[in-house]
Amino acid sequence: MSTTQAGVVVRVMAARVLDAVLHRGRSLKGELATALPQLADVRDRALLEAICFTALRRRGAYNAALESWMTRPLGPREGDLRALLLAGLAQLDALELPPHAALSATVEAARTLGRPHQAGMVNALLRRAQREGVPEGDPAQVWPAWLRTRLRADWPEQAAAIFAASAQAAPLWLRVNPQLGTREIYLAELAQAGIDAQPSEVLRDALQLAESVPMSALPGFAEGAASVQDGSAQQVADLFDLKPGARVLDACAAPGGKSAHLLERFPGLALTAMDVDARRLRQVTQTLERVGVQATLLAADASDLDAWWDGTPFDAVLLDAPCSATGIVRRQPDVLLHRREDDIVALTALQARLLDAAWTVLKPGGVLVYATCSLLADENARQIDAFLARHPEAQPDDPGAAFGHASGVGRQRLTGEDGMDGFFYARLRKPG
Ligand SMILES: C[S@@+](CC[C@H](N)C(=O)[O-])C[C@H]1O[C@@H](n2cnc3c(N)ncnc32)[C@H](O)[C@@H]1O
Repeated sequence: MSTTQAGVVVRVMAARVLDAVLHRGRSLKGELATALPQLADVRDRALLEAICFTALRRRGAYNAALESWMTRPLGPREGDLRALLLAGLAQLDALELPPHAALSATVEAARTLGRPHQAGMVNALLRRAQREGVPEGDPAQVWPAWLRTRLRADWPEQAAAIFAASAQAAPLWLRVNPQLGTREIYLAELAQAGIDAQPSEVLRDALQLAESVPMSALPGFAEGAASVQDGSAQQVADLFDLKPGARVLDACAAPGGKSAHLLERFPGLALTAMDVDARRLRQVTQTLERVGVQATLLAADASDLDAWWDGTPFDAVLLDAPCSATGIVRRQPDVLLHRREDDIVALTALQARLLDAAWTVLKPGGVLVYATCSLLADENARQIDAFLARHPEAQPDDPGAAFGHASGVGRQRLTGEDGMDGFFYARLRKPG
């Protein structure tokens, strides 16, 4: 296949993925998992991902521009055309691809999608975007009204910044494996490979890359020298101080990023990595194998103690709870399309059950860390307040200002602050 043909195939696939996600309730991850293996060239795969993520993140601005530029609104049977136009705008706007190639491949894709009669319109709209740029628009518009209201109630002064940060691409964060070398050595290896990176001043294992690169380009990646993990997720390990041999439970472990980090940071742990989803738990095996650490893996519902607990308590428990994912919208932009208000009721009930179970299996003198990638107080500060009302003996231990805004007895980092994802942290000690 020629480069030109391959370029058209990528745009057609982007339109199909976006159409499925935007108009048929499909998940971006699932659609990409099917689409990406159909592309042989790693650059085409990277381009498909970049177009889809950018189009979804910035669709508020793109939809507003299309609405004001088009004389007739697109109809319900034109979902693939809208998707293709969003893909086209993403290429010219945030991705800043060379306009000629982006334009001609996208216009040709309209023909391949069975819309030769609308190719001229696609061309005209994209040329206008190239000439005038895409107006910024209001990034809050892509948030469902109920979620916008809740965020504004929880974070009245910061809500606008959260909406804006959630429409931006997230930087690539790496976690350097201290078992295999120092961060300084790894920085030098990156520099040798021509990859520009900055060490974090707050997080001791973390590096932030100036530009995204495929994982295969990272020195020693296959051998576990480094892992891709946002800074907020990396900071969870800083809430622990664990001795060799400590019995640790990671109650919601898949795909295993935080288990791997704890095992790299604190060698000799007896860590149990549990997840209710057996398929996702298999990813934990791969994660741990790559970085060369071991854990006991358990597929179980952490809240159902009769089903899995043998009565031996843990020195520490990490509960990285299932949540609304409102803090990682920039990494999972389809969260805003699929999340329903009822989900929050179910999630907060599940989080409360998981917290109670985690507290039961914790040894006196032990520490329970609760973390979510949510921005909602119901899942975070209020969830922990309710826990403290049920367990007044629990002693909250403030993680400190490096973890974000004080929020109840925990800390909340908001999306984009310090370049990191939105995250909540609380640490609770059980009296000895
Ligand atoms: C936020 S993710 C965990 C991410 C993981 N800690 C990491 O760093 O890679 C939440 C996980 O909780 C799991 N989960 C949901 N309900 C659960 C339950 N009742 N018991 C155990 N795991 C559960 C989900 O399958 C999901 O993998």
